[in-house]
Amino acid sequence: MARDELINPNSSLVNPEVTEDDVVEEISEESGLRPTSLDDFVGQAELKERLGIILEAAAERKQAADHLLFGGPPGLGKTTLAGIVATELGAHLHVTSGPAIERAGDLASILTKVERGDVLFIDEIHRLPRVVEEVLYPAMEDLQLDVMLGKGPAARSIRFDIEPFTLVGATTRTGLITGPLRDRFGFAFRLEYYDAADLELITLRAAEVLGVEIDAGGASEIACRSRGTPRITNRLLRRVRDYAQVRGTGKIDQETASDGLALFGIDERGLDKVDRTLLDNLCNRFGGGPVGLSTLAISLGEPTETVEDVIEPFLIQQGLLVRTPRGRVATPASWKHLGMAPPKDQEVLDLDFEPPAIID
Ligand SMILES: Nc1ncnc2c1ncn2[C@@H]1O[C@H](COP(=O)(O)OP(=O)(O)OP(=O)(O)O)[C@@H](O)[C@H]1O
Ligand SMILES: [Mg+2]
Repeated sequence: MARDELINPNSSLVNPEVTEDDVVEEISEESGLRPTSLDDFVGQAELKERLGIILEAAAERKQAADHLLFGGPPGLGKTTLAGIVATELGAHLHVTSGPAIERAGDLASILTKVERGDVLFIDEIHRLPRVVEEVLYPAMEDLQLDVMLGKGPAARSIRFDIEPFTLVGATTRTGLITGPLRDRFGFAFRLEYYDAADLELITLRAAEVLGVEIDAGGASEIACRSRGTPRITNRLLRRVRDYAQVRGTGKIDQETASDGLALFGIDERGLDKVDRTLLDNLCNRFGGGPVGLSTLAISLGEPTETVEDVIEPFLIQQGLLVRTPRGRVATPASWKHLGMAPPKDQEVLDLDFEPPAIID
């Protein structure tokens, strides 16, 4: 989140040209872009096939499906898939998130509202408090809810039966999910970054939903700069649409897309200003590393979690950054991307070293 958004979450409303309705419009436009069926969900072929089988079998048996966990970087479609699970099962969807459930009682009140076959989606499930997790285990496994009444010596526990339900968990940090919780999911899916062909399809589909005219060249230009992430595809498409409307004819071709994205500071690899500042700090201020995460984060003015979860994964995936036990290190490709040659005395990267998994 940008700093001024933190200070004033309604900062975009300060601009008198932007009314609250416009903001709501853009947000609802985003939710309109979410595919609602598995068929409309682009890419992730293996995941789709497996999920399709699980859901079809459960729907045929008229039972709740097994509990499902979706892990992977932000913006790849975890929330979208939770909605699709409910739609494909013809079930009601209840939505909550790890940090929103503070006490065991909060979870109990949600679970008692869940009806037979419903889907309960818990976003950021790795952030569930431990006490809540412990109440969740028997609920997932035996459809039983243990609630403590009272405190101290007079406290007693009562047990409720709950209706069969499907828990869908989403997490950007699979590694932070405790073993006992992970084991209670029937299947854990991992979403991968999308390739350019899939992102092109996502761009074309989103353009159709938004009623924007676009050709193959325009779609491919947006796809290549989307960092493998559909949420970014949608965002870039909206910015290019704005650019085409104001500076062009409204139609998006390759040139309009490329000029529009350049104007908004997205380079040909999809790196934005923050990414380039990170690489620039790493190479120019810290001599290419190794430099610790917290130092790098401070130099960017971003929280360490944002650097670790949002900014770095894509740079690592692009071979522009390496995590080593001694800190972050620039690769020859990062120097090249900045238009510089790596210094001769830079420590030779031990590329046999296996960096820790990107997200976990
Ligand atoms: N496979 C896909 N096909 C088409 N559009 C997609 C796909 N995956 C995601 N999207 C689009 O990307 C947007 C972001 O997806 P979503 O909100 O599901 O991501 P997420 O994984 O839940 O992210 P976060 O971890 O930040 O919550 C959605 O609004 C949707 O329009
Ligand atoms: Mg989400």
